[in-house]
Amino acid sequence: MGPRAGERGRLLLTVAVVLTLPPRPAGSWGARIIGGHEVTPHSRPYMVSVKFEGQHHCGGFLLRARWVVSAAHCFSHRDPRTGLVVLGAHVLRVPEPTQQVFGISAVIRHPDYQPDIHANDICLLLLNRSAVLGPAVGLLKLPRRDARPLKAGARCQVAGWGSVSDFEDLPPGLMEAEVRVLSLDVCNSSWRGQLSPAMLCTQSGDRRRRGFCSADSGGPLVCRNRAHGLVSFSGLWCGDRKTPDVYTQVSAFVSWIWDVVRRPRPSPLPRTTGSAATR
Ligand SMILES: *[C@@H]1O[C@H](CO)[C@@H](O)[C@H](O)[C@H]1NC(C)=O
Ligand SMILES: *[C@@H]1O[C@H](CO)[C@@H](O)[C@H](O)[C@H]1NC(C)=O
Repeated sequence: MGPRAGERGRLLLTVAVVLTLPPRPAGSWGARIIGGHEVTPHSRPYMVSVKFEGQHHCGGFLLRARWVVSAAHCFSHRDPRTGLVVLGAHVLRVPEPTQQVFGISAVIRHPDYQPDIHANDICLLLLNRSAVLGPAVGLLKLPRRDARPLKAGARCQVAGWGSVSDFEDLPPGLMEAEVRVLSLDVCNSSWRGQLSPAMLCTQSGDRRRRGFCSADSGGPLVCRNRAHGLVSFSGLWCGDRKTPDVYTQVSAFVSWIWDVVRRPRPSPLPRTTGSAATR
């Protein structure tokens, strides 16, 4: 990890850094979507904030009234029983009347999740009760099972609340940025051949820095109104063109997701370990 990882450990809680890159000039750490803007409140009603100890930790999206899709790495070294899921939020810090708060009954990580290389970085969260759907709380669709991969250059949007940092203010509310799909081959070269299949990359598509940053993890990359990606990892410096943003490619996991959602409910999280999903 980079030179700041030790002293600013909490910045790295959520966007995992795969490569040990040579140190770069400081100052590009961001705590929010990079190069984006504030969304119209509740225009993305499927957006989830996963909180630990009262702090926003990761994003995610609502798939069904009791099911949230997020990134597996968000729950590494975390006891999900201490986590909360917030729906219907725009400004997280404020107790908005639209907000609905849930406990997490189970975290089901993908069985082939490999933390060291961030492969299959996806999990499902079972909420402890059903969300009440309405104008501020809604569902986001998965890609079609037979969908062709997105073409390079396709326009998508990524949204998130970013994290608290010592370097930037909190975002005013939920932020979003428009990005372009980057071919996996080009992205893999930038990442020195370290990418696995079932990943998806984006770039800004112009000279500006635009993409995700710390604590946007788990949030959806939305292309044509469907969740095609989940924020997984980027380089040490947010928005750096040398290390394009990498997402979990959701279309590769559609069958797994429906298998989990349709199988009989897992029993509650065991008392002894908060790490593994229960089956
Ligand atoms: C769900 O979890 C929340 C947060 O921990 C808690 O306040 C609420 O009582 C729980 N609801 C049910 C039905 O267990
Ligand atoms: C990335 O490149 C490496 C090295 O050439 C290769 O082994 C790997 O399969 C590539 N990954 C993808 C997703 O193409």
